[in-house]
Amino acid sequence: MEIKIEKMNMQDLSKINIDDFDDFWNTNILENDLKLDTSYYIVAKGENEILGFAGLNFVLDEANVSNIAVRKDMRNQKIGSNLLCELINKAKEKSSLITLEVNTKNTVAIHLYEKYGFKIIRYKKKIL
Ligand SMILES: CC(C)(COP(=O)(O)OP(=O)(O)OC[C@H]1O[C@@H](n2cnc3c(N)ncnc32)[C@H](O)[C@@H]1OP(=O)(O)O)[C@@H](O)C(=O)NCCC(=O)NCCS
Repeated sequence: MEIKIEKMNMQDLSKINIDDFDDFWNTNILENDLKLDTSYYIVAKGENEILGFAGLNFVLDEANVSNIAVRKDMRNQKIGSNLLCELINKAKEKSSLITLEVNTKNTVAIHLYEKYGFKIIRYKKKIL
């Protein structure tokens, strides 16, 4: 299957079934984010289906990876790597820094981020 990476639009958003990804994403937040001038979202598309998505938020000189997710049945096929590369390239156009937050238990995501040069700069402690 040919997989294309494209800028996300509202129609793409309506095709995303959150349960196919992970249940912690909220489509309302995603929809609001997509409308902002300060955000940039992309999708990985198969025939006519959304296999993955990822986004950046720009604040001053920094680009923050707001989310990256690949459909559960499509993981471990480099879709996440391709989405992240695309975000890094986009971030380089406007920012000097790219940041993200990840749960320390999410070893797959941490492996992916480290592969592309991300470094741990601080830990946050959850207290509630
Ligand atoms: C994190 C995520 C986006 C990675 O997407 P993906 O398409 O599976 O990633 P890739 O296929 O590009 O693989 C990236 C690396 O992780 C490794 N990897 C992927 N799945 C793995 C697994 N289940 N166990 C161990 N390693 C795994 C791959 O081997 C690859 O490393 P390599 O290039 O050194 O071989 C995906 O797992 C996901 O959607 N997770 C749920 C959402 C999430 O946690 N997002 C991050 C929030 S901060």
